Amino acid sequence: MKIGRSLYRRSGRSQLELISLSPGQTQNLGAHLGRLAQAGDILLLVGSLGTGKTCLAQGIARGLNIKDYVLSPSFVIVRELYGRLPLYHIDLYRLDRIEEIMDLGLDEYLYGSGVSVVEWADKGLSVLPAEHLLIEISYLSLNERSFRFKSNGKRYRQILAELRQLSIKKVRSSCS
Ligand SMILES: Nc1ncnc2c1ncn2[C@@H]1O[C@H](COP(=O)(O)OP(=O)(O)OP(=O)(O)O)[C@@H](O)[C@H]1O
Ligand SMILES: [Mg+2]
Repeated sequence: MKIGRSLYRRSGRSQLELISLSPGQTQNLGAHLGRLAQAGDILLLVGSLGTGKTCLAQGIARGLNIKDYVLSPSFVIVRELYGRLPLYHIDLYRLDRIEEIMDLGLDEYLYGSGVSVVEWADKGLSVLPAEHLLIEISYLSLNERSFRFKSNGKRYRQILAELRQLSIKKVRSSCS
């Protein structure tokens, strides 16, 4: 894991970019986030098809001591998994209208006592909690991805500060 250009705002350290060089590093980054996570945390994932959102979510599950992470059928929008804390893995990919997202009744998850991880969060930003950690993932090359973290709220500035301490070992593993 390379520490990318750190993007500081003049008002404070609210952004950070990390570069992952392999699916295994992305999972380890996720596992680190999973270990840092607290009840009520909201992690919003944004990035185009195949950039590594699910790969990161698998790592988060691992970091929460969720043993039985298995890929679900593609029509499942919300999955509840139980480890150190509940993980609510939400995937908005198949939803196009904001009304459809509102109809899901996500608030019981988002304002509940688990950790919510939302893939394709850009589809629902206007109805998702304003305080969150935004994670923008971009494809750089076959095995390289940029993770740009933006904190919105005090709790998420704290997570960013903890992420800055991160040094991730190189491992070989795959996400699929
Ligand atoms: N550094 C990396 N981090 C994460 N994934 C990587 C990396 N390098 C290559 N990959 C590959 O990219 C793919 C990422 O797939 P993944 O399902 O996590 O993407 P996604 O963003 O969830 O896609 P979708 O939009 O379809 O939900 C996997 O095949 C993985 O092996
Ligand atoms: Mg996915």
